[in-house]
Amino acid sequence: MIETIPNTSSTETLETTLLRATDITHAFDYTLFENINIAIREKESIAILGVSGSGKSTLLHILSTLLQPNKGKVYYRGLDMYAQNDKKLLEIRRKEIGIIFQSHYLFKGFTAKENLKISLLIASKKINLDIIKKLKIEDTLPKNVSVLSGGQQQRVSIARVLVKQPRVIFADEPTGNLDRQTANDVMDVMLEYTHERKGGLFIVTHDEKIASRCNTVYRLKEKRLVPVIL
Ligand SMILES: Nc1ncnc2c1ncn2[C@@H]1O[C@H](COP(=O)(O)OP(=O)(O)OP(=O)(O)O)[C@@H](O)[C@H]1O
Ligand SMILES: [Mg+2]
Repeated sequence: MIETIPNTSSTETLETTLLRATDITHAFDYTLFENINIAIREKESIAILGVSGSGKSTLLHILSTLLQPNKGKVYYRGLDMYAQNDKKLLEIRRKEIGIIFQSHYLFKGFTAKENLKISLLIASKKINLDIIKKLKIEDTLPKNVSVLSGGQQQRVSIARVLVKQPRVIFADEPTGNLDRQTANDVMDVMLEYTHERKGGLFIVTHDEKIASRCNTVYRLKEKRLVPVIL
């Protein structure tokens, strides 16, 4: 029997929906967003646009299990994430979820290769050189990350997430430091990955050209997620 996900229509099954968030509301000093509903299916890419300070990074943190919202639920393959104990949450976060942060937190003082190895160790996976080649960072592997350019560091941080083979990727302005050509190459890698692994990709960006390459585009505006046609 195929188990259906709570709060979904009967045609939607665990086979296709990877992540679903319902009625998400969150405030810090002021309410960032209210009653947001969003879901991602296998092979789907979703872009989120919005002005600085609208809450895009916060929403991504909530969807990616890093921040419990004031209200609402996040289901990962039918599992209510914030109802799980810490051990289970950590296990899912390590193995199934990949987060590319807005400021790439590489371990300074280590080489690019060492940075990749740490991630692989945590997820118990082996390195996939294919991804390294596609991101054109083979030459950076023996170098200390502190001597790499901003764009190289950004690609190492993307590689670090992809090599651990997560099912759902959350990328917060992953192409911010990159020229148009390299940004497009990075998008190729992430979209191809999502398709091949039947994964899902959430990407926050200010770049409408990058957003337009995704299946679905939203703008975070006036506390709501508004669908956008680009
Ligand atoms: N941990 C926190 N504690 C308090 N306030 C926070 C916290 N994180 C974010 N905020 C506030 O929430 C608002 C939204 O921040 P967020 O980083 O989600 O915006 P953003 O849309 O990603 O912006 P940008 O495009 O500049 O990255 C900001 O006013 C920010 O100061
Ligand atoms: Mg942000």
